[in-house]
Amino acid sequence: MKALKISMQFLLVLAVLFLNVQCKGKAENEGTKQTEIANKEPKDSLAISQEDFGKLPTGESIQKYTMTNANGMVVSVINYGGIITNLKVPDKNGKIEDVVLGFDSLEGYLTPAPYFGAIIGRYGNRIAQGKFNLDGTQYTLAQNDGQNHLHGGNKGFDKVVWEITKITNLHSIALQLHYLSEDMEEGYPGNLSTTVTYTLTNDNTLKVSYKATTDKKTIVNLTQHTYFNLSGDFSKDILEHEIAINADTFLPVDETLIPTGEFKAVAGTPFDFKQAKAIGKQINEDNQQLKRGLGYDHCWVLNRVSEDLSLAATAYDPKSGRFMEVKTTEPGIQFYSGNFLDGTLKSKSGGTYAKRSGFCLETQHYPDSPNQEDFPSVVLNPDQTYRSETTFKFSVK
Ligand code: BGC
Repeated sequence: MKALKISMQFLLVLAVLFLNVQCKGKAENEGTKQTEIANKEPKDSLAISQEDFGKLPTGESIQKYTMTNANGMVVSVINYGGIITNLKVPDKNGKIEDVVLGFDSLEGYLTPAPYFGAIIGRYGNRIAQGKFNLDGTQYTLAQNDGQNHLHGGNKGFDKVVWEITKITNLHSIALQLHYLSEDMEEGYPGNLSTTVTYTLTNDNTLKVSYKATTDKKTIVNLTQHTYFNLSGDFSKDILEHEIAINADTFLPVDETLIPTGEFKAVAGTPFDFKQAKAIGKQINEDNQQLKRGLGYDHCWVLNRVSEDLSLAATAYDPKSGRFMEVKTTEPGIQFYSGNFLDGTLKSKSGGTYAKRSGFCLETQHYPDSPNQEDFPSVVLNPDQTYRSETTFKFSVK
């Protein structure tokens, strides 16, 4: 009897302990969730601040959100176009400078600008003649780049207002941007619910995660259009920056910059960036593709081992020592050497943005994929979720 009583007591103690652990687990989970939603104080010196950045002609207020990490790395984003307006990182002497092209005020972004820092959608890059077919239905998009469609049309994701939520995690901070693109907006079918999350960590990585769902079969190819100049001096061109691209082939283009469909080996051409080399090293060579792009403005076919994040490219500015590593889940990367910048736009530092004062590394599916059977599909069905991720990691060498 006594033995039975003791074991009953023992069981009771065990049960109380078990319930305690369960409740604690639940509270902890809720705690994590609440931290995210309630925007509690950031940990590890990570912080997000917010300020007014002007008003749109419609009267809508535009806000600038600035994320700062423990090393003083800064990433500022506005809710207009999801534009990264500033990205500041240390050089080899610890000097923190802005390394992305952009403007000091909203007005700059409201005048025709070449997609500085913006989220690009619904389709990053070109679609031939602005036309594509889905299940026998032909869709017609804006021809806003000569005869072709470029970067989502006349009012792409770079020109819409995103809803922003600040997120504070234990070891990172993030800005989550959401935009609902309505059925047939800019000619694309389906209501597309799009979320882009910019996450900053203390290892100086900016992660860009994209997610989208649709209620009708459609096409999607999102990217980020930041122009980098790692020197931090926008009066300098980027020709001495050394670039490496993890690709054996690239996609040659026709006169209108639409891929011809050929996968061309980079070996023996100015497009070989398998070993890091200065952008300027071969950019002026007598080469038909360089002439068509007015320099580099092509999509490289990334060497991928899986669909997980894998190395796409690196960029290094020998003078400042700044080094950037780009990883992506995407199959391609558009390397654009800022060929169309022409010195007419005023820079943040007082001068102007001259030809090749910045370069872009836009991770994406290949241009004109909807019209090219051999390219990976960009079709999104209602029962699927589009996901894509790219990281930009900064360090010094
Ligand atoms: C394209 C260029 C275009 C630029 C617009 C790039 O993504 O590849 O051809 O001129 O965007 O600024």
